[in-house]
Amino acid sequence: MCGIVGYIGPQRAAEVLLQGLQKLEYRGYDSAGIATLSEGELLCVRAKGKLHNLAEKVQQLEILAHVGIGHTRWATHGKPEEHNAHPHRDSRDRLAVVQNGIIENYRELRQQLQERGHLFRSETDTEVIPHLISEYLPATPQPNGLLEAVQKAVQELEGAFAIAVICADYPDELIVARQQAPLVIGFGQGEFFCASDTPAIIPYTRAVLPLENGELARLTPTGVEVYDFAGQRLRKTPRTLNWNPVMVEKQGFKHYMLKEIYEQPGVVRTCLEVYLRPEWEPQAPYSPVQLGLAPAVLADLEFIQIVACGTSWHASLVGKYLLEQLANIPTSVQYASEFRYAPPPLLPNTLTIGVTQSGETADTLAALEMELSRRQGLEPPLSARLLGITNRPESTLGQLVPAIIDTHAGIEIGVAATKTFVAQLMAFYLLSLELAWQRQTLGGDRLAELVAGLRQLPAQIELILESQERYIEALSHDFSDTQDFIFLGRGINFPIALEGALKLKEISYIHAEGYPAGEMKHGPIALLDAKVPVVTIAMPGSVFEKVLSNAQEARARDARLIGVTPMAEVEAQHTFDDLLPVPEVDELLSPILTVIPLQLLAYHIAARRGLDVDQPRNLAKSVTVE
Ligand code: F6R
Repeated sequence: MCGIVGYIGPQRAAEVLLQGLQKLEYRGYDSAGIATLSEGELLCVRAKGKLHNLAEKVQQLEILAHVGIGHTRWATHGKPEEHNAHPHRDSRDRLAVVQNGIIENYRELRQQLQERGHLFRSETDTEVIPHLISEYLPATPQPNGLLEAVQKAVQELEGAFAIAVICADYPDELIVARQQAPLVIGFGQGEFFCASDTPAIIPYTRAVLPLENGELARLTPTGVEVYDFAGQRLRKTPRTLNWNPVMVEKQGFKHYMLKEIYEQPGVVRTCLEVYLRPEWEPQAPYSPVQLGLAPAVLADLEFIQIVACGTSWHASLVGKYLLEQLANIPTSVQYASEFRYAPPPLLPNTLTIGVTQSGETADTLAALEMELSRRQGLEPPLSARLLGITNRPESTLGQLVPAIIDTHAGIEIGVAATKTFVAQLMAFYLLSLELAWQRQTLGGDRLAELVAGLRQLPAQIELILESQERYIEALSHDFSDTQDFIFLGRGINFPIALEGALKLKEISYIHAEGYPAGEMKHGPIALLDAKVPVVTIAMPGSVFEKVLSNAQEARARDARLIGVTPMAEVEAQHTFDDLLPVPEVDELLSPILTVIPLQLLAYHIAARRGLDVDQPRNLAKSVTVE
């Protein structure tokens, strides 16, 4: 939520900032702005709405500055208007600040500052920061004047924030600070960058240093110094990311979301290559899976609790099914935002798993922190065991938990999660199989069957993409005026019904609900008529016949029935008006396939309506506020 960038070096700062903001627009896109320093003057340009509005304004000015900061906003405090757009300035217009996060004590600070004569020009929480820093600036510039002023100011701020600060009296400095919101510094050749997320930096350098909570840094044309909030200098070394800039380009696809849907076979393949032992056989005295986790993380588990939000929560529901059915471990899945305020009783030998594609979701991080702190000091078996599942191991999640399963999906730019969801599912398959092997809950042959099934998945996803996309695009034309959709699934495909509904509603703004198919008759069936299409996932297995009967109940209410089901199933063919066929696979593996047509359906319905698929309204890719 909100993206910040900063630059200091020989290039024209405005261009670098705009390019960086473009890569961060997925974090928020209500308004945007930049501030630069040149010839002792601060220039601030801001615009309401998407980044192109700001870019048009900037292009009309010839900005030669080599230092600057920028921001793309997801509104929290104050409407998305230009006067609320960042950067915010002090009363003298000498100092500018961009912020990602929420300053919880801003009301008190604002009142105190106003009483001291500071002039406020927005409704935002952020605006207190430049005013507060200016209070601590020495009357005439001193060698560490700005650094120390920021240090003092951040100690008065409560909440979660990442900030970048420039000041016309300190033309060769850019100060950044981090407390519970992400901030990465990039090290180029004689130039330095900062950003909320690495895609803004990666076109320039792969040497990055993620700041930790309570750290602050001064970027100058000659280097970077890192301090803690108390002013103690810290020794830090950047690390090299093995990404390349192409990973954050659209590569000929109309939208990032479509590109990311098409990346899914590759993502699954990579997971299999990294985590499955190629030579494993059922008789082998070792597991088919190599997750690289310390043995203590998984030993003697009696209970698993998973915390996550949104699509990651749906992946976790599939995970629960697998952990219970394959490894026989009771598992709960909670919305992270609920877990925190109603934590379940402490049980022994419990593994807590946080699942998040961004690695920055505030609710999920807060739930994990709470679990860590309430188990702190307790001896085994009650002590904390935390595991993260993410595609962003370098994120805050990676710093918080001692063990990570990297899903290797890489960065996802489209706001609607697709490839990261499938990668999270893969992590749960692998974890469940590892635990099943350790606990001997599956016979060798069944384990081998599932491992073989996993290996087929990349080609099967490719087949769906090749054979289905055109058809689904054509089908999407039929739903130009549709206002409601229902998605049904049962068992392991119930979470996929939820995910299909979420994908559709978040990018097309069509009202959609996912239900366990058997629940329809207990109420929601009253919603059905000829105007409400029902998408049903019907995969052969434990609930196949039941799901088909539930679909028939919908048909009897005139609903148009769309079935995600294997081509060869004659009964299914007779049940559904439209078929979205997927290969027939083991029921337990089917979610990885059944979700693909639902992603394509949501994508094409939204694209056909001319909507901004990658940046749907009101949403952001990293939700770093609670
Ligand atoms: C939906 C979507 C969101 C996220 C949710 C959690 O497509 O992307 O529902 O799943 O905001 O985000 P992460 O996984 O980053 O914790």
